Order: sequence, then C-alpha cells, then structure tokens
Amino acid sequence: MYKILANTIFLGKDVHFLPECHSTNDKAIQMIKEKVAHEGTIIICEHQTRGKGQRGNKWLSEKGLNLTFSLVLKPSFMDLSEQFYLNMAISNSIRKLLQEYITSIKVKWPNDLIVPEYGKIGGVLIENTFSGDGWEFAVVGIGININQQSFESTKATSLANITGNQFDLKELFRLLITQIEQGYLHLKRGNWAEIKNEYLYHLYLKGEWSNFKDDRGEFKGLISGVSKEGKLEVELESGDIELFGLKEIVFLNY
Ligand code: BTN
Repeated sequence: MYKILANTIFLGKDVHFLPECHSTNDKAIQMIKEKVAHEGTIIICEHQTRGKGQRGNKWLSEKGLNLTFSLVLKPSFMDLSEQFYLNMAISNSIRKLLQEYITSIKVKWPNDLIVPEYGKIGGVLIENTFSGDGWEFAVVGIGININQQSFESTKATSLANITGNQFDLKELFRLLITQIEQGYLHLKRGNWAEIKNEYLYHLYLKGEWSNFKDDRGEFKGLISGVSKEGKLEVELESGDIELFGLKEIVFLNY
C-alpha cells in the first residue's frame, strides 16, 4: 500500500491506491466530478489496464512493476494559456529525481523523460477540468517505467534496464512526490524564468542540428526554445524560426 506522505505540505495527504483501474487520469477526473478529489489528491494504480498517453497513444505498463499515478492540482494562480509552465515544472521535478540514478536523462519536448541511446523511460499527460468560472483542476498523469524489463515498443525502456538494479516503488514514489511538490511551489512563488531555463538546459537536442519531419516532408532544424504556449521553436536552415505544436513535428533522430 502507498501511505499518506509525511514530509510534504499538501501533495499526497490524500492518496488513493487502486490495485487495478483503467486510467488514473480518468479516475481522478471522475473523482473531481464527484467532488471527492481536491488539490493534492493522488490516485495511484498497481495495474493500469487502459493507460492513456500523449497524442491519443496508449500507455502500457506491466502490473506492479512501474509507477502510474495522477496528481490533482489547482493552479488558480496562473492562466490556462500559461499552462506550459506547469508542464515544465513537472518535467523538471521528474528529471531531477531520475538524474540521481541516470545522469544522462533528458526531457524530450514536450514531456518525455528519455535517456538517449536507451529510450523513453517516462511521460506526462496533463488533462484539465473546467467549472463555471473556467479552469478548475489540472490532472497530472505520470507514468515512469521502473522495474519492467521487456517492452512491446523498441523505444521504451526502464530505470532497471538502464541501471541493472531493481527499485523500491514506494520509496521512489515518496521521493518523486516530494520533488514535484517543491517544483510546484517554486512555480507558485513565481520563479517562472528559472523553471523555463532549467527545462531548456536539459531539453533533448536543444541547440543541435537534427532531422525532423512535418506534413511537408523531412527537414533539418535546430531546437532553439519553446514558446509561451509550449510550442517547439525550431530554427530552419534558411534562418527562419518556426513553431510546432504537438502533432505537427516528428523527431527523426529518436
Ligand atoms: C506519454 O508520454 O505519452 C504520457 C504518458 C502518461 C501515462 C500516465 S500513467 C498514469 C496516468 N494515467 C494515464 O492514463 N496516463 C497517465
């Protein structure tokens, strides 16, 4: 069982452990609608059977081997249009913790935790709920491959595969939540420029000429940053800077 966390201020004081569920994000959204989830609530599931990933993909995770959970946050101090700062703060926190075990960990835009030469180890899916006044909650769904050793996708890997060690999921969960709370409070205090700089510093392929594809074909580009809305800024060989949304660009070097 995952216990209520003792060393945090608000995150993880209300932890719901489910032996099986479809998706922790869906469960959190349902609990928000039923008014039984609030800021800081965490839903963690041992066997997620219909996990959702970015771009409508599935998130597959073997029972009891990885971390799959969702946090309920109420970022009423920011505008929905600024939400990418929340994405960056969360990615920074996860990357910081994983860096304790794998020094070469990177964030691949927008929210993938990857280890170049090995593959993707984790991802984040943020979904929003709205009430009469507008944006109400952000449900931050996090999946991190920890002890699983074989994957359907050749691009997926785990902490165990990279380090050769097995990990205590509950201990990693506790450390991760503590780190995420610190990152979120940092955001809440208004340290936005620092959060963005940290995100860009660890961004995969930033400043390197690389191969991409969009609906017009393949091209070479250099990631130069991210826009306020979270679009990827890519410098083209012509010197122009182009912005790409989530479904508008494919990384060919990965
Ligand atoms: C991605 O990289 O595509 C995002 C993956 C997010 C997966 C997590 S697992 C817990 C939470 N519940 C879901 O259904 N998805 C997220």
